[in-house]
Amino acid sequence: MSADIIDGKAFAAGLRGRVAALVGPFRDQAGRAPGLAVVLVGEDPASQVYVRSKHKATVEAGMESFEHRLPADATQDQLLALVRQLNEDDRVDGILVQLPLPAPLDEQQVIATIDPDKDVDGFHVVNAGRLAVGQPGYVPCTPLGCLMLLKDRIGDLSGLNAVVIGRSNIVGKPMAQLLLAESCTVTVAHSRTRDLPEVVKRADIVVAAVGRPEMVRGDWIKPGAVVIDVGINRVPGAEPGKTRLVGDVAYDEAAAVASAVTPVPGGVGPMTIAVLLRNTLVAAHRRTGVALAPDAI
Ligand code: GUN
Repeated sequence: MSADIIDGKAFAAGLRGRVAALVGPFRDQAGRAPGLAVVLVGEDPASQVYVRSKHKATVEAGMESFEHRLPADATQDQLLALVRQLNEDDRVDGILVQLPLPAPLDEQQVIATIDPDKDVDGFHVVNAGRLAVGQPGYVPCTPLGCLMLLKDRIGDLSGLNAVVIGRSNIVGKPMAQLLLAESCTVTVAHSRTRDLPEVVKRADIVVAAVGRPEMVRGDWIKPGAVVIDVGINRVPGAEPGKTRLVGDVAYDEAAAVASAVTPVPGGVGPMTIAVLLRNTLVAAHRRTGVALAPDAI
């Protein structure tokens, strides 16, 4: 048996297209495009690549992109002042401060300063709380993207056993909340979990978000399970000096057992920016009161 490949790149392109198609009608009613502000502090090369991709995708969707760059030695007060200015700016529907921040900046204080109703990353405690109690808010982009792929593949998730490996605030915990809200029976496994292979073996849905290359092996997986691999790990390649990307799941082994699996790259990765645009569009509608059909995106 060989699993179907869940094509996150294609799904993300479709989602971006659906978001872009709704920007025009929003602009007609609100008199402006949805706006996303991205703040980059310092020169971290990976962060620069992410911010450039976000800017390009925002513009391609017909939205307004506001980019703010601060030097690596910017003070906490400067950064907080910028966030407060963006909170007050009515053209800005979404605010994203690219993480990680250079030391000694305090990420938690920065996130806490973002207006929760502009927190399209879903990192503010108010949005974590809204997710936990089932109120409308903003959900972190990566786990929401994983949920979209799962629902597209499976349909109704109710009653399924889901195992989330990893308990980060950005992926593991919100993923578990989302699956619980879909009436899955959810287990959150982590570095202290006993007999992880046995735990994973019970899962109809496996979401791996641990950041350890190819940790989840094929013989851990229940035949027919759906496997979502959030990991992006750079490891030495076949040729000296070359590297390659692998996930947290041993892909070939998992593909021999699962019914469907996300590849790395091309699985979960492309979903993150597409969901960021979706969250920004939703924020623009909520903030202006322009109606958005519940199942529009
Ligand atoms: N750094 C890497 N991924 C992300 C993300 O999704 N949001 C923010 N703010 N920073 C990141």
